[in-house]
Amino acid sequence: MANVAVIGSQWGDEGKGKIVDWLSSRADVVVRFQGGHNAGHTLVIDGVEYKLSLLPSGIVRGGKVSVIGNGVVVDPWALLKEIETVRAKGVDIGPHNLKLAENANLILPVHQKLDAALEAARGKVKIGTTGRGIGPAYEDKVSRRGVRVCDLRDEALLKEKIENQLIHHNALLKGLGAEEIDAGSVFKDLMAIKDEVLAYADVVWKTLDEAKTERKKILFEGAQGIMLDVDHGTYPFVTSSNTISGQASTGSGMGPKSVGYVLGITKAYTTRVGTGPFPTELFDDVGERLGARGHEFGVVTGRKRRCGWFDAVLVRQALTIGGVDGIALTKLDVLDGFEELKICVGYEIDGKTYDYYPSSQLDQEKATPVYETIPGWSESTFGARSWADLPAAAVKYVRRIEELIGVPVALLSTSPERDDTILVTDPFADK
Ligand code: IMP
Repeated sequence: MANVAVIGSQWGDEGKGKIVDWLSSRADVVVRFQGGHNAGHTLVIDGVEYKLSLLPSGIVRGGKVSVIGNGVVVDPWALLKEIETVRAKGVDIGPHNLKLAENANLILPVHQKLDAALEAARGKVKIGTTGRGIGPAYEDKVSRRGVRVCDLRDEALLKEKIENQLIHHNALLKGLGAEEIDAGSVFKDLMAIKDEVLAYADVVWKTLDEAKTERKKILFEGAQGIMLDVDHGTYPFVTSSNTISGQASTGSGMGPKSVGYVLGITKAYTTRVGTGPFPTELFDDVGERLGARGHEFGVVTGRKRRCGWFDAVLVRQALTIGGVDGIALTKLDVLDGFEELKICVGYEIDGKTYDYYPSSQLDQEKATPVYETIPGWSESTFGARSWADLPAAAVKYVRRIEELIGVPVALLSTSPERDDTILVTDPFADK
């Protein structure tokens, strides 16, 4: 099966946009399978910039089918707004090329309100959510209180579901001292957009099964990163969905064998937005320099990203859990000009050495990195298109990373430009 899943190997923001765009240009179908409009990436195609949050990357390229799978939580207003913005740039978007799973759960205004109220109530230990209502919407899904896309088809059922959801949440909002939400006005607002949203509703598992039968190439586009996975990440400082490749199946309605190759997008250093443990975080001018050179600001919230050295232990763990076959190493050029570079090869916690990142929140906070120092390079790697264009020390750095993480580099990205990529393995080639 030549289908590919692309996932982030760290805490998100690994530079998925460019790689996903490159791969989606070669795919027939592009599928989002988790997360929501907390994700964000920028694509630059023929000089035009597109900022996508909820729409799969394939949307900006003609002749592809873009799918929002059941594993995504969908804010219908955000979806329509994004469609309008992207369409205004001349992109063709309609029910023929955008399919929204009818069994996807909706993010409603109460979820954003809860996100804010719950975050405020968390006191000092905040998760630093994007405030998009993602967590509360997933909670409702699991509590079986969710309102789904298909519910928009039946007025009476929709009304009942909104009321049922709000009985629960208004009591909580009241307790938190926040304003309650009026079920009638949510119903009215949804009725105003339901036809527009339902136009995209689709039996996605069937559409994907047909694509599979026709041997179409399917790209599963992950959002966030493995260390933000609700099970395997730095819990509770995580997002509310599974971000690993296994979710591509659950979140789209295809079987687990549908993904033939898993590509882990991996930044040549580490960044994180929001709170939570980050063993290799740098608080000095090196961290500042990485942030400035790497333009490390969030696409969705504009928040400054925390920066640190490459953590080979964390990435090895993430790639193992995520079943990653090869990595796309990004932003190597940000490391140009450093005299020496550090790579985390282990942790020390209470005098004990670890070759993995333990699950306990306290241990995660206490972990201090054990570093290996390797020489940097003064030459530029920006825009390199072959190994021969890279300084020997940069090749050594990449090879050392491969050794430590146990997964080969399939692609090396050396600038935001699509062609500035060194291709080692074609993820879409049949294995
Ligand atoms: P939520 O997904 O909005 O609930 O946020 C939970 C955590 O995940 C916070 O630390 C966010 O900063 C982080 N997060 C969510 N989406 C992204 C993303 O696309 N990139 C990086 N971090 C993210």
